[in-house]
Amino acid sequence: MIRLHVNVDHVATLRQARRGTEPDPIAWALAAERAGAHGITCHLRKDRRHIQDADVVALRARVATLLNLELSLDPEMVAFGAASGADEFCLVPEHRQEITTEGGLDVVRETPRLAEVLPGLRARGGKISLFVDPELRQIEAAAAAGADFVELHTGAYAGAWKDRAARERELARLAAAARRAHALGLRVNAGHGLNLANVGAVAALPHVEELNIGHAIVARAAFVGIDVAIGEMRAAIGS
Ligand code: PXP
Repeated sequence: MIRLHVNVDHVATLRQARRGTEPDPIAWALAAERAGAHGITCHLRKDRRHIQDADVVALRARVATLLNLELSLDPEMVAFGAASGADEFCLVPEHRQEITTEGGLDVVRETPRLAEVLPGLRARGGKISLFVDPELRQIEAAAAAGADFVELHTGAYAGAWKDRAARERELARLAAAARRAHALGLRVNAGHGLNLANVGAVAALPHVEELNIGHAIVARAAFVGIDVAIGEMRAAIGS
């Protein structure tokens, strides 16, 4: 069964728009769990544009399913992550000006830094996931680095939605990457830009275990509520 991990960053984005206390991403995460989320994901960014340090501490204390913390390789972020007690760490690239995470981690280039930071993140039992574009050389580097998971970046697939040929091409790249990862002993997650319309084909990819979905669920919940939004997404991924 595919597991749905719900990213609560956008709830924090709305709160930060007024620098107040509402909507509370912790209460929202707990409601998401009650509605059937199998895990909660958040991204502590260097610029703290949405999730704050105290949110991660509170989520760790209260999330009962699984807490997946997305982090860049910045030393401050890695030190925070190592102390956080998260169940899973997804390492992502981060650029100050981007609207959301653009592109996967260049694992080939970052191999020396990964060798430095992975032992600390693993010290309290956290699993390591590397967010990568569906490129075989990145998958091979992730296996060599000793990651537990790769999270396949589905942004190019989602972005190609209106062009059937391009979409099929991206889906084929994702499938090849998933097969290669599995053959190398890596577990496979996927995420970015997924919604009710495009998620089915990603859920049907070989070996995929977890989907990380944020924007589409939070946006849909604004209309239909958390229970319906999560129920619909679970139905769409067949879980
Ligand atoms: N996975 C990773 C690594 C991400 O950085 C993000 C965006 O924060 C997501 C999944 C979720 O993307 P979306 O909000 O488009 O569902």
